[in-house]
Amino acid sequence: MIKKILIGLLVILVAIQFIRPEKNNSADITKDISTLYPMPDSVKVIVDKACADCHTNNTKYPLYAAIQPISFWLADHVNDGKRHFNFNEFAGYRLAKQNHKLEEVIEQIKEGEMPLPSYTIIHTEAKLTEAEKETLTKWCQSIMDTLKATYPADSLILKKPTQTQAASK
Ligand code: HEC
Repeated sequence: MIKKILIGLLVILVAIQFIRPEKNNSADITKDISTLYPMPDSVKVIVDKACADCHTNNTKYPLYAAIQPISFWLADHVNDGKRHFNFNEFAGYRLAKQNHKLEEVIEQIKEGEMPLPSYTIIHTEAKLTEAEKETLTKWCQSIMDTLKATYPADSLILKKPTQTQAASK
């Protein structure tokens, strides 16, 4: 009985190796955040190593990402991360959403929620030092300050129909 179950599992494991989720590899950066707000190298280094794999249109896949079901699991993180916040799509967000997402980045960093803990187990270099956290949050804050100084307060208030709609826009 146990042998049959194990063989069954093995067959499934082999079969799913042939299913490949679409890769997140686009070179389109026309709506990148840096097209609106210059990103200093000190910030770019941090974003590239700690956030880009899940919050841009370009993931650097490790070798083990070719193995199922790891590949599904990674694709799920990337899709979910991108849906919430995408550095490469930022310039396409309306002002209120830009403002709100920057606020969320600051929050996530301060609370130590991002990068995802499951990510930093392998990508140990993505664990942010206090200095790196400060560099990233200060940059976000400076953009928020610019927005506040440039646009009427009303245009920066996110009018949320529902949480889910706000996240999917
Ligand atoms: C391994 C993938 C991964 C990495 C790396 C990662 N994130 Fe995330 N991020 C996610 C996922 C998945 C979500 C959505 C679910 C959640 O909140 O846990 C998310 C949510 C967020 C949100 C919340 C947006 C919202 O609408 O609530 C922000 C902001 C964010 N991430 C910023 C960052 C920043 C900044 C970094 C780098 C310091 C980073 N993330 C690194 C996967 C990742």
